[in-house]
Amino acid sequence: MCGIVGYIGESQAAPILLDGLSKLEYRGYDSAGVAVYSEDKILMAKSRGRLKVLKELTHDGEMLQGTVGIGHTRWATHGSPSDVNAHPHFNREESIVVVHNGIIENYLKLKKKLEKKGYVFVSETDTEVIAHLLDYYYKGNPLEAVTKIMHRMEGSYALGIIFKEHPTELYAVRKDSPLIVGKTKDGHILASDVPAVLKYTRDVVFIENEEIVRMTKEDMEFYTVDEEPIQKATTHIEWDVNAAEKGGYEHFMLKEMYEQPKAIADTFSPRLKNGEIIIEELGMSPEEIRQVEKIMIVACGSASHVGHTAKYIFEDMARIPVEVDVASEFRYRNPILNDRTVVVVISQSGETADTLAALREAKKQGARVLGIVNVVGSSIAREADNVMYTWAGPEIAVATTKAYSAQLTAVYLLAMKFAYERNEISREMLSELIDELKALPIQVEMLLNNQGKIQKFANRYLAAKNIFFIGRGIDYAISMEGSLKLKEISYIHSEAYAAGELKHGTISLVEEGTLVVSLVTQKELYKKIMSNMEEVRTRGAFVMGVTLEGNLEAEKSADYTVYIPETSPYFTNSLAIIPLQLFAYYIAVGRGCDVDKPRNLAKSVTVE
Ligand code: F6R
Repeated sequence: MCGIVGYIGESQAAPILLDGLSKLEYRGYDSAGVAVYSEDKILMAKSRGRLKVLKELTHDGEMLQGTVGIGHTRWATHGSPSDVNAHPHFNREESIVVVHNGIIENYLKLKKKLEKKGYVFVSETDTEVIAHLLDYYYKGNPLEAVTKIMHRMEGSYALGIIFKEHPTELYAVRKDSPLIVGKTKDGHILASDVPAVLKYTRDVVFIENEEIVRMTKEDMEFYTVDEEPIQKATTHIEWDVNAAEKGGYEHFMLKEMYEQPKAIADTFSPRLKNGEIIIEELGMSPEEIRQVEKIMIVACGSASHVGHTAKYIFEDMARIPVEVDVASEFRYRNPILNDRTVVVVISQSGETADTLAALREAKKQGARVLGIVNVVGSSIAREADNVMYTWAGPEIAVATTKAYSAQLTAVYLLAMKFAYERNEISREMLSELIDELKALPIQVEMLLNNQGKIQKFANRYLAAKNIFFIGRGIDYAISMEGSLKLKEISYIHSEAYAAGELKHGTISLVEEGTLVVSLVTQKELYKKIMSNMEEVRTRGAFVMGVTLEGNLEAEKSADYTVYIPETSPYFTNSLAIIPLQLFAYYIAVGRGCDVDKPRNLAKSVTVE
């Protein structure tokens, strides 16, 4: 995690760095810092807490005059959030300064060696090792020192580095942590992610693993770890700058929830042509689709919940066996794959370290890897054999909403494509499903417009200690996401259970007044889930049911019922999740939580 920025040019660096960091705070926000070269010395300011503390400390950057600098926003991995552990980090003479995103896995070994050579460490971070290691290898040639430390370090890193003796140069390097660079009107900029540079340039260069950049005011040069110069292509970014602003909404999360109809439509529209599903980027012929023997879906967090929904849909609609795994487990469990396995990795950021490692493992074992990714040009998008983009636009709130909805849409399209090509569904069925899919944006909008009712209900549960979510089949997958949304932003303890599992232990947690949210969207399971609702109700639970319009029966087993419009049973997740997102949001707002930046979290988890 963490976000890094750097600038070299004719403008004052500090305001550009602070502005860039404000766009990267989603990557971590427990401390921040900047360093600027200023008249023969490197000035540094850093502090625990949000970026606004640093802004106050530096008078919005005015106290750091200079035209070359680096900055950092931190999500602590090694060493608690504190002023001293905040980046940047100096070498002992304060002549080399570094910001780092990633983890140096062998830092303890390196630290011991450096201590033996007399280096004194002031922080608990792994990053300080980098500053001292650079100091150790620096003999007047920065590029040489950078390549030398790359040979010594294990782990992941994106670095921004300034050498006091070379004040007209800024160095950056990457291994397994994202890094982009670009030309501004009067210099060059580097950052962990696109939103940080959009205000200054739309033409960026994606730095690959073990590549080094030497930036000056006028130029950018790229090198391999063997100091060989390389050429790099520029990518033009189409994103709308305003898409990364709040646009009048109180929180990014609320804004992004309201962008869901568009995210869903933008994801399916380019892939529906003349009543057919065309996914050119899939890169598979109908014959190859028919030959697939197994699909494995690998992702983390909410994206893995999309995977659970996909399993139910693919198996039922396309009759292909599907396994779903969280990436952190998949990568170490020696999964059984072959060239007839399609591994689908799902990721909003395209940078999640575990998902990226899982992708690499799958490729190593000969599987075909399809990425479902939101961020164009991200690592997963570039490394997957094929990539299907979800067109949700930039998602800033840490808790995902619109990217989740776009991911669901992408898996619906895929499942329909596979089912049709494998002759599991007829053309008529395909047309019906396409019609249902096209209706989703307007249905989602209707549900969003009903937020007042959900807000009122949420206000009754601001003091809840535990809230449970239950469901069967696809409804269980929806429950997992509803529960995660609630707990991550409101800090209320919550769990999701397959409703049939309740009596095998969990039901003992139900007390008088415990809220149980029950998902009831699968008609053939209505009776079963309603019995489970009765079971918890007779033990004192208050039951909120989320069901399809017309299922008035649900009111017999629920104390409070929310209706969603009728759709295909395969697509109910896209609708049922809306009241659950609103419920989580209003509970968090009512409890005074920092909705867009929940404690301890970061948007893009680029460490293992
Ligand atoms: C929860 C949430 C996370 C992410 C997870 C994967 O609201 O956003 O659980 O879904 O960290 O992130 P990506 O999709 O970027 O790989």
